[in-house]
Amino acid sequence: MTRRAVRLIVALTACASAASAVAAQQRNGEAYATTPEVTREAYDMRTAMASLPLGEAELKGRALFAQRCANCHGGTRQRPGPLLGTPTIEKLGDAAFRERVRQGSPMMPGFQYTLQPAQIDQIAAFLKTFTPRAQAGDSLE
Ligand code: HEC
Repeated sequence: MTRRAVRLIVALTACASAASAVAAQQRNGEAYATTPEVTREAYDMRTAMASLPLGEAELKGRALFAQRCANCHGGTRQRPGPLLGTPTIEKLGDAAFRERVRQGSPMMPGFQYTLQPAQIDQIAAFLKTFTPRAQAGDSLE
């Protein structure tokens, strides 16, 4: 084997291991849990371009949920809070949901001093717009 071929092989091996290191890093923890798997589908661009079917209160709730709740509520080991959505509110009822968010629990901070009642209602309004579905990569293991 010529020296040139040897150098080429060494360079290619280095590239491959660098790429797999990056992939492993991306798969570590949060990024892996929240990154949906890409699958090839026939997209209906009309759905993709349609505006979000959410009202003002629901949109505000969505932002608050992303800022204050989503980090913990992923239904995974890193985000151990259960997935929240319509079933949560149906199970607890509006009043108990509000109280739960205000008071917190041993595993969850209470928001009575950091969220206004109206804001908690906005979060509830947003949660009522969907039923959560575990994503690929989510698991309690
Ligand atoms: C520090 C992490 C953390 C944050 C932040 C957090 N939660 Fe939680 N939450 C949890 C955990 C863990 C549980 C499940 C254990 C328990 O009930 O204490 C939970 C439970 C709940 C429950 C009860 C669910 C059920 O099915 O009974 C509700 C409702 C809830 N959270 C709403 C919220 C909302 C709304 C926010 C944002 C305003 C929020 N949580 C922010 C960790 C968190």
